[in-house]
Amino acid sequence: MLLHTVVLMSALGGVLLLSGGGMVAGVGVNVDVRNISKIDDASYFRIYYGNTFKVIKNDLDGKSYLLIQSNSKMAAKTKYCTPRIKSFVIPLANFSLDVNYFPGLLLLLGLMESLKGITSERIASPCLLKLYNEGQLQMLNKSEPQQFSQYTAHFISSNTNQQTQSCNYVTFVPIGEQTPLQRAEWIKYLGVFANVEMRANEIYDAVKNNYMCLVNSTARKNLKPIVAWMEFNDGVWTFTKDAYKLKYIEDAGGENLDESINKITYNISTIEDQEQLHAILCTVDVLIDGTLTPDPIGYNATMFLQNLNIEDQSCFAFISHESVWRHDKRLSTDLALDWFDGAVSQPQLVLADLIEILFPTGSYTTTYFRNLIKVLEFLNFLQTDVVYVFEAYIHFGIQIQGEQTTSLGLENCNRDTLTAMEPTIITCT
Ligand SMILES: *[C@@H]1O[C@H](CO)[C@@H](O)[C@H](O)[C@H]1NC(C)=O
Ligand SMILES: *[C@@H]1O[C@H](CO)[C@@H](O)[C@H](O)[C@H]1NC(C)=O
Ligand SMILES: *[C@@H]1O[C@H](CO)[C@@H](O)[C@H](O)[C@H]1NC(C)=O
Ligand SMILES: *[C@@H]1O[C@H](CO)[C@@H](O)[C@H](O)[C@H]1NC(C)=O
Ligand SMILES: *[C@@H]1O[C@H](CO)[C@@H](O)[C@H](O)[C@H]1NC(C)=O
Ligand SMILES: *[C@@H]1O[C@H](CO)[C@@H](O)[C@H](O)[C@H]1NC(C)=O
Repeated sequence: MLLHTVVLMSALGGVLLLSGGGMVAGVGVNVDVRNISKIDDASYFRIYYGNTFKVIKNDLDGKSYLLIQSNSKMAAKTKYCTPRIKSFVIPLANFSLDVNYFPGLLLLLGLMESLKGITSERIASPCLLKLYNEGQLQMLNKSEPQQFSQYTAHFISSNTNQQTQSCNYVTFVPIGEQTPLQRAEWIKYLGVFANVEMRANEIYDAVKNNYMCLVNSTARKNLKPIVAWMEFNDGVWTFTKDAYKLKYIEDAGGENLDESINKITYNISTIEDQEQLHAILCTVDVLIDGTLTPDPIGYNATMFLQNLNIEDQSCFAFISHESVWRHDKRLSTDLALDWFDGAVSQPQLVLADLIEILFPTGSYTTTYFRNLIKVLEFLNFLQTDVVYVFEAYIHFGIQIQGEQTTSLGLENCNRDTLTAMEPTIITCT
C-alpha cells in the first residue's frame, strides 16, 4: 500500500526525506515561491513545501497532512492513512464541513465552488445560506458519518472522536489559538489545500495591517477604561478567561478586570458573592454580557439586570454611561451568531467595534456588538442624570430601551455566491 516511505523531520526546519527521491529542502529552489504561505502569528500549525507536495502539520492534534499535487506522479501512487499522517490530492476536488465558524474564511478565499456538504442548517453566513437554498450544498446528518466519505476532505472542528476519524477527516481548529490574529491566520491553512496561498496571504496581510493600524491608533489614548467581559450560567456569573477576548480588550486600549481579581465565579444567590461582585462592578466602566442564551433576540436589559440581581445600587458606571454590550448583534433567522463565523475571519471589525465602545465617537456603527442599555431619548431629555433614569426603571418600571439584534437572511447576500468576498477595511490613520 505504502509505495513511498516518507520520513518527516518536521521539527528540523521543514526538511523532508523521500526514500529514493533524495533530499528536498522545505523551501527549495524549484518551488514557485509565489505560492508559499509563511506563518506570522499562528502557533498551532506549520507548513512545509516540497516540489510536488506540501506538508501541513497541525500542532493541536499532532496530525500531519501530506498534500500531493494532482499533476504529480506521486498523486496516483501514494495514499497514507495512519493515526499520524494522512494524504490528500490537491487542489481538493470537493469537501464538506462540520464546523460553525469556517465559512467566513472560505468566502474570503473564494472556495465556495468546491464546498459541497455541510452538517448544520444554522448558518450565519447569508451567502452560504443562499448556496444551500440554491441546492449547491448537501445537508449531511451528523449521526451518519458514512455520508462524509463521499468528499475528498471533510473538515471537522474537534478531534474528540479520534478513534472514529476517517481517512478524509481534516481537523480545523483556529479556535485553539490565543489571539484574534492567530485565529484569522488559519485562512492560510485552508489556502494550502486549494493552492490559493497567494490569496490567503493577501487577505491575511490586509486584515493584519488594518488590525495593527487600529491597535496603534489607540496607543495615543491615555485613559484605559476598565472592562468586565462576563457570562451568566446556572445562577453563576463568571469573568471570561478566553485569551482572545482579553487580547481584544487590550488591543482596543482597555484594561481587563481579571488582572486585579483572583476570584472569577460569583454565585448570585449567595449574599456574600453578590456583594463582592457588585463591589467589583462598581469599578467597571464597560460591561460585556457574553451570556449564551437560546433566545438572543429576547435577551434585553431587564434580563441582564435580573441576572445581576441589582436593586438599589447606583454606583455602576457602565449603567450611568449606558455601556452594557452583547456580541450577538448579527445573527441569522435561525439564531446562528456571526460572532463565531464572520468575526473570526475579520477580527479588525471586532476591534473597531470595541474601540468605539471604549472611546465613543457616536459616528461609528458597530457590527457585532449591540448596546443593551441605551436609555430612551425622551428620558434623556427629561433628566440627564442617569441614576435618576435607573431609579425610574426600578421604581416605576420605565423601560430601558436597548439596541436590537440584526437578523441575516439570504437576502443579505449581495453578491454572486461563488465570487470571493473582499475583507472590509476600516478607515484608520
Ligand atoms: C439523522 O440520522 C439519525 C440516525 O440515522 C436519524 O435517527 C435522524 O432522524 C436523522 N436526522 C435527520 C434530520 O434526517
Ligand atoms: C469529490 O471528488 C472526488 C474526486 O474527484 C469524486 O470521486 C467524488 O465523486 C466527488 N464527490 C462529490 C460529492 O462531488
Ligand atoms: C501558483 O499560483 C498561481 C497563481 O495563483 C496558480 O496559477 C498556480 O496554479 C499555482 N501553482 C501551484 C503549483 O500551486
Ligand atoms: C504600528 O506601530 C508600530 C510601532 O510604532 C509600527 O512599527 C507599525 O508599522 C505600525 N503598524 C501599522 C499597521 O500602522
Ligand atoms: C448557588 O448558591 C445556592 C445557594 O447557596 C445553591 O443552592 C446553588 O447550588 C449554588 N449554585 C451553584 C452553581 O453552585
Ligand atoms: C425584556 O423582555 C421581557 C420578556 O420578553 C419583557 O417582558 C420586557 O418588557 C423587556 N424589557 C425591555 C426593557 O424591553
